[in-house]
This record gives sequence, C-alpha cells and structure tokens, in this order.
Amino acid sequence: MSLRTEAWQSLAAHAGRLRATSLGALIHNDLERPAQLTKTACGLTLDLSKELLDAPALRALTALARASELEAARESMADGEPVNRTEERAALHMALRFSVKAPEEADVPGTLDRLLTFAEEVRQGRQGTKTGPYTDVINIGIGGSDLGPAMAAQALLPYIDGPRLHFVSNVDGAHFIDVVRDLEPSRTLVVICSKSFTTQETMANARLARDWLGAGADAQMAGVSTNIAACAEFGVPEERVFGFWDWVGGRYSLWSAIGLSLAIGIGAERFRDLLAGAARMDRHFLDAPLEENLPVLYGLTAVWRRNCLGTTSTALIPYDQRLVRLPAYLQQLELESLGKRVDLAGQPVAQATSGVLWGEPGTNAQHSFFQLLHQGSDVIPVDFIASISPTGASQEHHEILLANCLAQSQALALGRSTDEVAAQMRAQGQSEAEIARLAPHRTFPGNRPSTTILLDRLDPETLGALIAFFEHKVFVQAVLWGINPFDQWGVELGKVLAAQILPALRTGATEDLDPSTAALIQRIRGAN
Ligand code: F6P
Repeated sequence: MSLRTEAWQSLAAHAGRLRATSLGALIHNDLERPAQLTKTACGLTLDLSKELLDAPALRALTALARASELEAARESMADGEPVNRTEERAALHMALRFSVKAPEEADVPGTLDRLLTFAEEVRQGRQGTKTGPYTDVINIGIGGSDLGPAMAAQALLPYIDGPRLHFVSNVDGAHFIDVVRDLEPSRTLVVICSKSFTTQETMANARLARDWLGAGADAQMAGVSTNIAACAEFGVPEERVFGFWDWVGGRYSLWSAIGLSLAIGIGAERFRDLLAGAARMDRHFLDAPLEENLPVLYGLTAVWRRNCLGTTSTALIPYDQRLVRLPAYLQQLELESLGKRVDLAGQPVAQATSGVLWGEPGTNAQHSFFQLLHQGSDVIPVDFIASISPTGASQEHHEILLANCLAQSQALALGRSTDEVAAQMRAQGQSEAEIARLAPHRTFPGNRPSTTILLDRLDPETLGALIAFFEHKVFVQAVLWGINPFDQWGVELGKVLAAQILPALRTGATEDLDPSTAALIQRIRGAN
C-alpha cells in the first residue's frame, strides 16, 4: 500500500473517532486546545480550535501532506518549474513580490518601477488632460483583471488618497453606464486590463469607454496586458502600456501591472507594502515546518472538512465591511483553481475536490442566511475573518462587530440543547405545553465547525499577507488532490458557444443550434 493510501486511511480512522465525539466535548475537555490549534504569522492568527479536529488528526493530515510530497511541490513552484502542466508554464506569482527568482528575461523590478512611476505621476497631477489632473480612474477588466484590484481597493479605502477608483467588468452595458453616470470624460483615465487583450467582455467595454472618452481618447487610456501588440493596435500609446508575463495566472495577477489602478489609488509606497506583506507570507509558506505553517494548516483543514467530514460548501464571512469583495475574489481564486475533476495525469481524481465557496460580510449575513448555518439540514463550515484593530471606525462599533463574530462561532460550535432551551423557557414561566411545542424549533444542534482568522489590522501589508495566505492554501489543496490549480479549461466551452450563439441571436438563423437554445433565441427575438 502506498504511503498516500495509508495516510488517507489513517485520516478516515481519525474522522470516525472525532465524529463520535463533539466540538463541545473537545473544547471543554482540553484546556490546551486553543494554544495547540492556534498559530500566528505575518500579522495573521489562524484559530482552528473550533474545527472538529485535534492534534492527532492534524498530525495525520501533515503526514498526508508529506506523503503527497507537498514540500517538493512547493519547491518546484518556487524554482519556476512548469507546474502548470496543461499549459506548460511556471506559476511564479511569488516572483512579482521578489520572494523567488523570476525567469532571466523578465525585468520584474524595472517593470514595477515604471508602473509605480506612472501611478505617482497620475496621483501628483503630472499626468492628466488639457482640463487638468485626472479625478477618476476606471479599471476595465474581468476575472483576475478586475477582482484583485477591485477587492483590494475596497479593503484599503482608508489608504486611498489618489483619484477615485471605479471598476467595470460586466459586459452588461448597464455596468459601464452606471459607473460613468457622474464622471467627467475629460478628467478620467481608463485603464484596460486584460492578460490576453482578447476577452470579449473587456474588449466590448474598452470600445464603449473609448467612445465615451471621445476625441483624443487614446491619450486617456492605459493598457495592461501580456499582449503588447494588441494594446497598441487598440490605440493605447506605447508609453502607457504595461506588460507582464505568461507565468502570472490571471487570478494571481494583482501583484503585477494589473494592480495599476490600485497603485494609483494608494500610491507607490503602500503598493510596495502590499507586496512586502505577501512576500513575508511567501517566506513563511516556503520555510516554516508544515506543523507551524499557516497556509498549510488552513489547506489541510479544508481537505479534512471536504474529504473526511463530507461537507460540500464553505461560507466565508468577513466581519469587516471593507472586505465585502473578498468572497467574490476568493470564489475565482479557489473555484477556478480547484474546480477540477481529473488529476495531473488526466485520470478521475480519487477524492472530491473543491466544494462551493460563498459569503457576505457579517453582521449583515447574520440577518439573512445564518439561520441555515445554525439550523439547516446541512453542516456548512464557516471561515470567519476579522481585524483586531478597527481601521478608521469607532472602537464602540468595532467591539460590537467582534462580539458578534465570536458569538456566531461559539453558537455554531456549542449550540443550545433542547434541555437548555426547556430550562430557559421554564425559568421564564412558560407552560410545559408551550415548551414541548417550541423547544425543537429553538434548539441549536451545534457541533458545526468554523475557523477564525484574525488580522492584526487591515492595512496594505497585512492584506498582502492575507491574499498570499489564500493563494498558498489553494496550492496545498491542489497538491493533496493531485490536480493542476493553475489552468481553467472549464471556462472555455461557454466562450466558444457564446461566439456561435451571438450571430444566431442577431439574425435568427438557429438551424445549427439545439432545439432548446433555438427556442429561447426565438422567444427573445419575439418570434414566438
Ligand atoms: O474566466 C476566465 C479567465 O481566463 C480568467 O482566468 C481571467 O482572469 C479572466 O478570464 C480574464 O482574462 P483576461 O485577463 O485575459 O482578459
């Protein structure tokens, strides 16, 4: 039997043992547990003490990581080997924050200097139009060319002291129209971000923006892409084209020139702080023993939940309004990376891979779907994220926010038994008939796992560390499942079919389409 198979079997045994106990028992019976299951690094605290895990199960998980050769895989990625095997590319996003070496031909420091010089010129009004400095910047891009800068711009709002930032991604023209409603074209810089510079949505929005800018539009556009020729062909002046490299995946590209709009917002120094925070997390991921390694432990916990406890989705709840876009950002990072059903050899994977990731900020989410988290028929693990220090908010509000965050994880773990509910109702003087009728509805089963991630504060450096923490966590899961986290073939078919459907939608020539789609087209065209 292979070491890996043995490790999976050992995990199954631990899962059986722990299923027979409860989170309440684990938490109350072992006072060492919080210290044992909480790790800190790079301004982040990872608290696994409310997971249905214990130290022996965690040891079995790290044994699985070793049997899956996680350490060697980590080195291969850092050494620039073509770990993205289906596209024969390296995955060197860590090189963008100078944690590992970039390929010789790539001038990463020079490219960053040029980018940040331009960003500072825009901020200081040395770049602008005849009517004055730019007041607004619109980032046009989608997926990784939107979500990273959009999420980070929201997260770092207190640090934004440059022009206002706006993001247009959806090909629904309403997105562009709604964003530019109150903007003045003559004072707006449009940054077109697209790794390929061929993405249908982005190119359609870029054309719309060029028309909106009007005469002299070219001088108010910047382009970020690996496809420099296409930027020039579109009309972006050469001095405003910023390149990056094919070894940077779209969903790992915030650290490249794709971060331009964010850099304009927060400035060069804070952008470098963001990179420095990510670099600290890289060093931790590359050097710390697996047992102390935050992204490794977090990734192993995700594997444990999915494969040993059989959960199918994860709710990610930032108790931080400024992290409102984090769930969307992580949906791309996690689900484009881990939504795979064949392994590196093209064979069906032996284990279930990524479940669904979803979420909304707390406390708002408490007043919508938390009912299901507490009393629904499925157990859905929750990842809580909160900042210890408030950023620009009152201490009083922050305490209320944190109290709610801790209360939710406590309620999920410990629940409230029917006996406790009955005792409470009795103490309130309610009748036995009323208690019998209502107690089942008011019972909380508990035993629902969660992880709490605390940030020392939400600043550029800690945000950088947090994003890198998630990137590496995803990598860990991919290695354990034996899949390639760096390709995204699953988005291709829809793109190809949309290109075939568009002419049919325009002309009504649906003969080549399946009857269901053809009928919908006729319906849309008003032919039915
Ligand atoms: O959704 C597929 C995808 O290729 C993502 O991986 C990528 O981030 C996005 O489209 C945008 O691609 P591009 O930057 O080439 O426009």
